[in-house]
Amino acid sequence: MRIGVLNSGGDCPGLNAVINGVVGAADKLGWEVLGFRDGFEGLLPDGGDYMTLTPDETVAAASLGGTILGTTNKGNFAAKVGEGDVARIPSEIMDKAKENLKKLNVGGLVVIGGDGSLTTALQMSEEGFNIVGVPKTIDNDLQATSMTFGFDSAVSSVVEALDRLHTTAQSHKRVMVLEVMGRHAGWIALWGAIGGGANVVLIPEIDTCIQKVADFIKYREAAGKRSSLVVVAEGAKLQDGKIVTRCEGEASEVSLGGAGDLVARELVRLTDKDVRACTLGHLQRGGSPTALDRVLSARFGVQAVKLIEQKRFGRMVSYQSSEVGSVPIGDAVHQLRLVNPDGEVVQTARALGICLGD
Ligand code: F6P
Repeated sequence: MRIGVLNSGGDCPGLNAVINGVVGAADKLGWEVLGFRDGFEGLLPDGGDYMTLTPDETVAAASLGGTILGTTNKGNFAAKVGEGDVARIPSEIMDKAKENLKKLNVGGLVVIGGDGSLTTALQMSEEGFNIVGVPKTIDNDLQATSMTFGFDSAVSSVVEALDRLHTTAQSHKRVMVLEVMGRHAGWIALWGAIGGGANVVLIPEIDTCIQKVADFIKYREAAGKRSSLVVVAEGAKLQDGKIVTRCEGEASEVSLGGAGDLVARELVRLTDKDVRACTLGHLQRGGSPTALDRVLSARFGVQAVKLIEQKRFGRMVSYQSSEVGSVPIGDAVHQLRLVNPDGEVVQTARALGICLGD
C-alpha cells in the first residue's frame, strides 16, 4: 500500500509534525508514503512531483516550523476564490491529478489544509479521490474542530511579543498597539491578549468604538496607569464596520493588514498619549511549534492514517472534547468558527479588566 500526503495554503507551525505522524503510522502498517511538493501542484507534473518519506527524515523535521514539502496558496487547484465564493476546479486538472495518483498506485491522500485547501479536498473527494483531511490554520477558525494545530504556537508568539512590549511601554509611558493575525476570527487576538496581559483587545466579532478605547486609556492614565497595551486583530471592523485591507494580491483571499496603524493614528488624535504601532505579521507563522502543537499534530497525522486504513474517505480529522476523531469534510468548510461575543472566553477577558472596545 502506498499513500500520499500534501500540505496546502499558508504554512503553520506543526505541519512537519503532522507529516511525521502520518509517516510513523503508515510505516507501522508497512505502507510507503509519498510527500507531494508545493501543495496540490505536486500532483500535476507527469509522474507527480514528490519525495518518498521515511521516519528517519520526518522524525528530525517534526520539531521544525515551516514544511519540508513546501507549500503555496496559489495555483491550479484554487477552489475558494475571494471570501466565501467557490469555483469548480477545471476537469483537465482533476483528470491529470487522478491519472498521476493512479499511476503511482496511491491508495489514499492526506490533505493538510485550512478552509481553502479543504474546499479543494472536498471537491476532489466528490470526484472520487480517496482523500482524508487534516485541519490546519493558526487562525483556529474551522468549523467542526475545536482546535487546529498552529494556533497555540501563534498565540505563544503574541504573548512573547506583549511581554516585550510591556517593558518598553512602561519605560516610555506609551500606548503600544500590536496588530495580530487571525483573518475574520479573533481567537489569536483574544487568547494572546489574555495570556499577555493586554489592556485592550479589538476583535472582528465585537463592533469597536475607538472613542471608547480612547476614553478607557484616559481613565487608566487618570488612575496612574500611564502605559497601555492594545491588541488589534487584523480583521477587526474599525471603519464603519469595515475591515482594513492591504491589497487584493494574487492569493485566493484578500490580504488584511493596517488595522493596528489605523488604531494608533486614531488614539494619537483622541488622547494626548505617545502611541506606537507594531505588526507581528508572519512571526506568528514561523518558528518551531509549541509542545501542545507538536502533540496535537502527531495525533492528527496518526488519525489520518487510521481513516485511510478504515477506508473512511471524505472525512477530516477533528478535535472535540479532548479526543481526536473525525467529521465529514463538508461539515468543516464554508463557515467560520468565530469567537462568541457573549462566550466564556470573552467574559474572562472582561473579568480581567480588558476593554473590548464596546
Ligand atoms: O490564515 C492564516 C494567515 O496567517 C492569516 O492569519 C493571515 O491573514 C494570512 O494567513 C496571511 O497570508 P499570507 O501569508 O498569504 O500573507
